[in-house]
Amino acid sequence: MTRNTQAFDHWIRTRFVELNSQLEVLYAEQKDRANVEGIGEDLKRQLETEGRELIASLLVEGNTDEGFDHAFDLLGNVGLYMAACRRHEITEPSRETTSPLIEASTLAMHIGASIGVTPRFATAHLTTHNRAKQGVYKRFTNLGAEKLFVDYNTKGILAYKRAADALLKIQPLGIDHPIAYDLLLVAKRALRGVIDSNKVLFQQLDADDFFYCVRPYYKPYRVGIQVYRGANAGDFAGINVIDMLLGLCAANEPGYSQMLVDKFLYMMPEDQSILRDCMRRTSFMDDLLNMTHLNHQAWYQKNVKLFLEVCKLHGETAIQHHNQLVTKYIAQPSIKLEQQHLAKVTASGPPLPVLLNSLEQLRDRRAARQRDDINTRFADIAALKASLEVC
Ligand code: HEM
Repeated sequence: MTRNTQAFDHWIRTRFVELNSQLEVLYAEQKDRANVEGIGEDLKRQLETEGRELIASLLVEGNTDEGFDHAFDLLGNVGLYMAACRRHEITEPSRETTSPLIEASTLAMHIGASIGVTPRFATAHLTTHNRAKQGVYKRFTNLGAEKLFVDYNTKGILAYKRAADALLKIQPLGIDHPIAYDLLLVAKRALRGVIDSNKVLFQQLDADDFFYCVRPYYKPYRVGIQVYRGANAGDFAGINVIDMLLGLCAANEPGYSQMLVDKFLYMMPEDQSILRDCMRRTSFMDDLLNMTHLNHQAWYQKNVKLFLEVCKLHGETAIQHHNQLVTKYIAQPSIKLEQQHLAKVTASGPPLPVLLNSLEQLRDRRAARQRDDINTRFADIAALKASLEVC
């Protein structure tokens, strides 16, 4: 790390957190918690100026070519600064045609393009690739709600990744291999881990604190002339690896592939290549449907039964995400929100009903529910279940 990089990192971990936290206290004192206009103007100016000066020095330094990890980390720091400016409406993408944060945009575009990721902060910066210092990892504020949210996003992502890694290891063995059973068992336990950690998040995270003080840092913002959608916990390959290897979702479905195309650059490069590879493979469900005539064999009974349990658990995580997390923390508070703020609700930008509809489709694909309007594996899951009962 160069001295300038270190100075900026130190500022992000200290002063930046103080300024954001002070602003959050001021916003929360108002009757309309969603308002940021005309509040804490001095603090906002300090945030913008101090960040700008540190970034200007980094820009003069140029690309110091210190390897992927450092470049990715620096991009995250620039991104946190830009996201905070957006949160406090120092910048506002609908008000501007190009980001007024010229130095930050230039540095972010330089780094993003050179390492093959989107030039904004992504979920990995705050979760799986967020280096702690003396037990504290990078955050926007010192609010308990933010720590809880990031902790449980990280736990959820890591658990999904464990399930995905186990399923990927079945690929070269084949779903009829005796050891595929062991790997399905690992996936099953990992998905239970997702459910358990989502449950704690749902029970402990305060809906208003999340909606008014945490979520606003995840809004879309402009880098240069382009608006980049907000970060969300789904920006890693694992969840889609599980979808496609199990066969619950398919890359040749327009609704689903649209989402994959949109998320590629928001993921770490290693995740991008895992996902690309997975999109070319056949699913275990299709493999098993071609083997139903072998249902009298012991491996078939064992592996198919466990395969179906894994599918069911994956569906349960999706139901939980939609029916609990999205409903409690996004949909319900938005209803309360005054009309004037409504356009700013989601992280990715589409109107709330459009977003909810696409998340509902994902839930129903993963849960293999019967639907007339989109393809789900409802009938295929039923066929596999029936093939078990014959013996
Ligand atoms: C996407 C809400 C926690 C996994 C989304 C989206 C919303 C949302 C609204 C759509 C993204 C957008 O706005 O464009 C929430 C809320 C959470 C939460 C309110 C908790 C308070 C989690 C956790 C995980 C997770 C803990 C587990 C890793 C995902 C995934 C996606 C996603 C995978 C991408 C869409 C998909 O493939 O399902 N989330 N989320 N979320 N979230 Fe969450």
